[in-house]
Amino acid sequence: SNFTDYQAESATISQGVVESNHAGFTGSGFVNLDNVTGSYVEFAVSAAAAGTQSLTFRFANGTTTDRPMTIAVNGTAVATARSFPGTGAWTTWQEITVNAPLNAGGNTVRATATTDNGGPNLDRLRVTGPGDTEKPTS
Ligand code: GCU
Repeated sequence: SNFTDYQAESATISQGVVESNHAGFTGSGFVNLDNVTGSYVEFAVSAAAAGTQSLTFRFANGTTTDRPMTIAVNGTAVATARSFPGTGAWTTWQEITVNAPLNAGGNTVRATATTDNGGPNLDRLRVTGPGDTEKPTS
């Protein structure tokens, strides 16, 4: 395997809180983003080499309404209003993946809510390096 996990509760949070009241998260909790447009979580991601990597977000959305987020790498959107659909329950966690180029060294990966419902609950970001064929499972 060739991935690194970044816990949302350890990331930079704008308009959101760390909580742990819905089971199934990894690490010590998850981020509950405020139900406003523009709430975000920003991860500080380190890459050994420049190139396209997979950004896999683990999330829960206990509503039946999509909670789209724009994903930006180093300030540039790589996915606009990416769907984070309902997962059936706040305790049901799923993953979506966006592929994006990273720089060697430090990068920022920001997920920003694009509707007034805010984002889903975010558990973590898994960054999978080039050449890895193993699928994230949890
Ligand atoms: C509920 C749920 C939260 C969630 C929120 C929301 O309050 O308990 O975990 O973040 O709904 O709609 O965003």
